[in-house]
Amino acid sequence: MSAFEKLKDDLKANPKRWLVTGGAGFIGSNLVEHLLRLNQTVVCLDNFATGFRRNLDAVKKGFNAAQWARFSFIEGDIRLMNVCRDACDGVDYVLHQAALGSVPRSVKDPNTSNEANVSGFLNMIVAARDAGVQRFVYASSSSVYGDHPDLPKVEDKIGNVLSPYAATKKFNEIYADIFARAYNFRTIGLRYFNVFGPRQDPDGAYAAVIPKWVAAILKKQEVGIFGDGETSRDFCYIENVVQANLLAASATSDEATNQVYNVAVGDRTTLNELYQAIQKGLRERDPGLPEQKPKYQDFRVGDVRHSLANIDKARTLLGYEPTHTIDQGLELALDWYKANVA
Ligand SMILES: NC(=O)c1ccc[n+]([C@@H]2O[C@H](COP(=O)([O-])OP(=O)(O)OC[C@H]3O[C@@H](n4cnc5c(N)ncnc54)[C@H](O)[C@@H]3O)[C@@H](O)[C@H]2O)c1
Repeated sequence: MSAFEKLKDDLKANPKRWLVTGGAGFIGSNLVEHLLRLNQTVVCLDNFATGFRRNLDAVKKGFNAAQWARFSFIEGDIRLMNVCRDACDGVDYVLHQAALGSVPRSVKDPNTSNEANVSGFLNMIVAARDAGVQRFVYASSSSVYGDHPDLPKVEDKIGNVLSPYAATKKFNEIYADIFARAYNFRTIGLRYFNVFGPRQDPDGAYAAVIPKWVAAILKKQEVGIFGDGETSRDFCYIENVVQANLLAASATSDEATNQVYNVAVGDRTTLNELYQAIQKGLRERDPGLPEQKPKYQDFRVGDVRHSLANIDKARTLLGYEPTHTIDQGLELALDWYKANVA
C-alpha cells in the first residue's frame, strides 16, 4: 500500500479540521473536495479575487446534506489579520493556497500581488502559529528557481527570481524558514510546477496555458504560443498536488518538516507537444473541430525557458508518488472541459 493510501485510511479513521485558504480557486476547491471525501471537516477562506462561488457549488453537488455540513465558508480577505485569526480557530492543519497567481499580473501590478502573497501570507502564518495549528502547508512555486540553469530543478539550487510573483513566493519560503527558527513553528512549502485539471479557469488575461488553449480550441478560436513553442514545462495533474498537500500536512519527522518540496511529475513537455496533444484529444472527442495551426508570438517577459523538477526529495521524505502522468491527467481534464466549457 502506498504512503498516500495509508494516509487516507488513517484520516478517515481519525478526522481532522482543515483550513483551506483560496478554497474557491482551482487548487483549493480540489483540496476541499478530496478532504470532504475523506470525512474531514473543512473551513474555506476566500475573497473571490480570482476564485468562484461556482467552484464550491460544483463541489457541493458531490455530497449529501450531512456530508456538506462538515464544510463551512468564510468570505474574507487574508490581508486582514482578524479574518485570518477567525479562520484558524480550532484548526489542525492549514493548506494555504490563497494568492494572486500569474507572472504577467505581478509584472503589471507588483503592489497588489505583494499585498495578497506576502502580507496575506504573513497574516496567515502568524494566525496559524497563534492558534496552535499543527502544520502550515503553503503553495510556493517553481518560479522561485528563476534563472538557475540546472535541469532538473533540485530544491536547494535556486537562482535570481525573474518576476515580482516569484519574489513573493520566495518571501513566503523565507518567512516559513524564519518561523521554524524563531518560533519553532512547523511548515512545509510546496513548489508547484504548472498544475492543471478540472476547474482551472480558462478565461481572463491571466489564464494558465492548458485551460486557455482548451477553451480556445473548443470555441474554434486561434491559439497563440509565446515564443517558438520549444519552451517546456513539467505539467502536473491536480490529483498529484492534492496528494502532496495531504502528505505534507501529516508528515511528522523533523527531517521532513520545515522544508520545501518540488511537486511535479518529473517529466517535461514542450508547448508545441502540448498544443498537439490538446488538439488531438479534443478532435477525438469532437471530430467536427477543425485542425488549426497555432500563431507564434513574442516571448513573454519573466517566463523561464525550461522547467523540469527532480521529485526525489518529496518521494523520499514525504512518500509522494505521482499517480497521474501528463497524458493521464490531460485525458481527465479534456473530458471535464468538454463537459463544462460552452
Ligand atoms: N496553478 C498553478 O500552476 C500554480 C503553480 C505554482 C503555484 N501556484 C500557487 O497555488 C495557489 C493556488 O493557485 P490556483 O492555481 O488554484 O489559483 P486560483 O486563482 O484559482 O486560486 C487562488 C485563490 O485565492 C483566492 N485569493 C486571492 N487573494 C486572496 C485574498 N487576498 N484573500 C482571500 N483569498 C484570496 C482567490 O480568490 C482564489 O480563489 C496560489 O498560491 C498559486 O500562487 C499555482
